[in-house]
Amino acid sequence: MLQIDHLSASYKTIDGDVHVVQDANFTIYDNEIFGIAGESGCGKSTLLKALYDIIEFPLQVDSGRVVLSGEKGGKSFTYQTGQIRKSWWNNISYVPQAAMSVLNPITKLKSQFLDSIPEEDKKRETPQQTLQRVQQYLGALNLSPEVLEAYPFQLSGGMRQRVIIALATFMSPNVVLADEPTTALDVVVQRGILMLLMRLQKQLKNTMVLVSHDLGVHYQVTDRIGIMYSGKMMEIGKTTELFANPRHPYTQMLIGALPRVGDKSQRVGIPGSPPPLKNPPPGCRFAPRCPKATPLCSAQVPEFREISPGHFAACHLLNGEGK
Ligand SMILES: Nc1ncnc2c1ncn2[C@@H]1O[C@H](COP(=O)(O)OP(=O)(O)O)[C@@H](O)[C@H]1O
Ligand code: SF4
Ligand SMILES: [Mg+2]
Repeated sequence: MLQIDHLSASYKTIDGDVHVVQDANFTIYDNEIFGIAGESGCGKSTLLKALYDIIEFPLQVDSGRVVLSGEKGGKSFTYQTGQIRKSWWNNISYVPQAAMSVLNPITKLKSQFLDSIPEEDKKRETPQQTLQRVQQYLGALNLSPEVLEAYPFQLSGGMRQRVIIALATFMSPNVVLADEPTTALDVVVQRGILMLLMRLQKQLKNTMVLVSHDLGVHYQVTDRIGIMYSGKMMEIGKTTELFANPRHPYTQMLIGALPRVGDKSQRVGIPGSPPPLKNPPPGCRFAPRCPKATPLCSAQVPEFREISPGHFAACHLLNGEGK
């Protein structure tokens, strides 16, 4: 389980701070695929980095924290921001955007698997035994053990992504974070990768956090979605509920802009563009583009609250204010 507790993060730049995550406050549970959606540049990848605890300059956590907790092998564990890296691979793993960069281009994939094994496990078995386990695991994911003798550049994009997912799930981590895992791939390969992620989540009964700008991907695979806009979590709910009955004006516009089968009418995009994160508008960050905005919206940041059981939103109208 990941508890995101009033987390704010920004990038320090010579022109000032870029406020990329604003007061994120929500929980991602065990045994679910949680999607993070939103237009490009809204802070999805940054939020994921904070969840994985790769807080490296210029990124900085300004306030709040992330708490990773759960149980593995009969032992319970809790790590928070600043400690989460101790649990990398074993309790939490990460498939970054442009994941090719996680693979060392001049090392065979075999070594990359062996490097991911914690020291304690290495003491328990010989490298040969570990390699055998890796081969079995790859086989179970329909990947030929031959890939272990390959260098990353020798594999196709889809195959490489499968290997990275195998690497990220080999230790059966409680949480897997995947950032745009299908974005660079063609539709058929995309589908295969999504099926693989779904299958692994069902097997491991763990938590999968899937970042994608593509709502179609979320519709296919996620149990719940969080919609981000300009660094702020705007709405969280069950995927089916969010698509059938989006409550936040931003989500309503996003869903309304999706093409529908057989519908030839022109879909309207969302007019305007997201605000600069360096100098975000006061109050609700969506106010400059929101057709329902009232004067309160530009004066006060709407609180992120539960508006119906399990459904959360940050909007004055939904919180019974601003009418
Ligand atoms: N290293 C950096 N320094 C300064 N600003 C950054 C840096 N990386 C990202 N940003 C800013 O953070 C914003 C959010 O980026 P990102 O989290 O990658 O969004 P998303 O994944 O939703 O596309 C971007 O608009 C970008 O301007
Ligand atoms: S708080 Fe106001 S501006 Fe923001 S989404 Fe709600 S109605 Fe629109
Ligand atoms: Mg991104």
